[in-house]
Amino acid sequence: MNAPAPAPARRGNGSRYLFMALLGLVVGAVASVMVMRAIQQRHDPYPEAVMHVMSAHMRALKQNVVQNRCAATDVLPHLQALRVVSNDIEPAFADMRDDEKFAKYASDLRAAIDASLAAPPMACGAVQTAAAKIGEACEGCHRYTNQ
Ligand code: HEC
Repeated sequence: MNAPAPAPARRGNGSRYLFMALLGLVVGAVASVMVMRAIQQRHDPYPEAVMHVMSAHMRALKQNVVQNRCAATDVLPHLQALRVVSNDIEPAFADMRDDEKFAKYASDLRAAIDASLAAPPMACGAVQTAAAKIGEACEGCHRYTNQ
C-alpha cells in the first residue's frame, strides 16, 4: 500500500508575512535611531560650549601657575580669550539674559577679567590671585543658577 507522496513544501503566505513583519521591525528600529539623532542634534550646544571654552582657559591659567610659566605671553592669551568668550554668555543663554541678576553676574565676570587685563599679572603669584578672583565670579553665577 503506497501512501501518496507528501506535497512539496511551498512557501506559503505565512513565511511572507513573517518576513514582512521582521522587515518592519528593522525599518522601525533604523527610523527610531534616526529620529533620536535628530532630536539630539536639536539640543543647542552654544551655552555649554561657551562654558567649556572658558573653563579650558581657566584650567590653562592654573596649569601656567603649576608649571611656573607666568610670562605675559603665557598668561595674556588666556585672559583675552576669557574676556572675548564672556561676551557670549548672554547671547548663549537667551532664556536668562533678561534676568537682572544673571546679567549682573555676567558683567561681574567681565569686570574681574577687565581688572586683570588692566594690570596684567607678571608673576605666578599674581596670576593665581587673578584666576581666583575670576573663579569667584564664575562661582557666583553658578551658585545663583544652581550649576
Ligand atoms: C552669568 C552666569 C554664569 C557665569 C558668570 C559663568 N557661568 Fe558657567 N554656567 C552657567 C550656567 C547657567 C550653566 C549651566 C549650563 C547648562 O547646563 O546649559 C553653567 C555651566 C558651566 C559648566 C558646565 C557645563 C556643562 O557641560 O553643563 C562649566 C564647566 C562652567 N559653567 C564653567 C564656567 C567658568 C569657568 C566660568 C568663569 C570663567 C563660568 N562658568 C561663569 C552660568 C554662568
